[in-house]
Amino acid sequence: MFKKIIKYFLLPIRKVITKLVISEIITRDIEYNNLPINMAAQYIITEGVDGDYYEFGCFKGQSFIKAYNAINHNYNKWSKFERTYQAFSSKKLAYKAFEKMKLYKCRYYVFDSFKGLPAIEGKDENHPIFSEGRYDCSKSDFEHNLKKNNIELKDVNIVEGFYEDTLSPDIKKKYNMNKASIILIDCDLYNSAKIVLNFITDLIQDGTIIIFDDWFAYKGNPNKGEQLATKDWLLENKHIQLIPFSRYGIYQQSFIVHKNEIK
Ligand SMILES: C[S@@+](CC[C@H](N)C(=O)[O-])C[C@H]1O[C@@H](n2cnc3c(N)ncnc32)[C@H](O)[C@@H]1O
Repeated sequence: MFKKIIKYFLLPIRKVITKLVISEIITRDIEYNNLPINMAAQYIITEGVDGDYYEFGCFKGQSFIKAYNAINHNYNKWSKFERTYQAFSSKKLAYKAFEKMKLYKCRYYVFDSFKGLPAIEGKDENHPIFSEGRYDCSKSDFEHNLKKNNIELKDVNIVEGFYEDTLSPDIKKKYNMNKASIILIDCDLYNSAKIVLNFITDLIQDGTIIIFDDWFAYKGNPNKGEQLATKDWLLENKHIQLIPFSRYGIYQQSFIVHKNEIK
């Protein structure tokens, strides 16, 4: 009898309470923690940067789960009239402003080999921790982690494979890819980041936030890793300008994209 009470009554109550507590912790983290992804998620709404989330290098899903929660949280918050009304005394003017805001429902893309880093070659050699196969996590383990965090898999487009094989114009057509609002580049190496940057050239727009997770790897050397990939890419695409936006932790740096008109 006592066991039945625990199973049918106390356990479900505990589950609901745990869910509520966790969702409160997540909300506080998004609202008060100045992570680049939290700032980006608000920025794309208040600046009207309509577009999708692209993540290159997702490993077990930690950064993706944070991004998904931050983007959805801000979408839900700004979908409510109350958020706009906070900035007005007049309800009528607030309604006018609210009606003008058209919120874009973000789609999500992740790209990973799900086999970890590729062979470390050429410019990427001689880093103390980057080595072939590091950060390997299977696609099914990644999916399992998303489900555990209440993310519906149908909301996430997962492109599996090494970038040299997957990042092609065909994949853009296949998924009918739109412009990007936020791009996370977390693939550690020059070779990987350069392929990614070439791929996103026609997906970026004014206001797209690009977060580089390993900007200061290779001892911050501007001629290595993600910094060199970006330098080379900008030289090849003179119309693109990156405006420094936010810094976080040991390695992260994010930028806002500005595109000059091509003459
Ligand atoms: C540091 S982990 C990403 C961590 C993740 N963003 C997080 O914060 O939880 C780097 C990821 O990049 C992926 N990666 C690096 N180079 C790649 C390439 N050329 N093709 C496909 N995946 C690559 C690896 O498989 C690995 O999962």
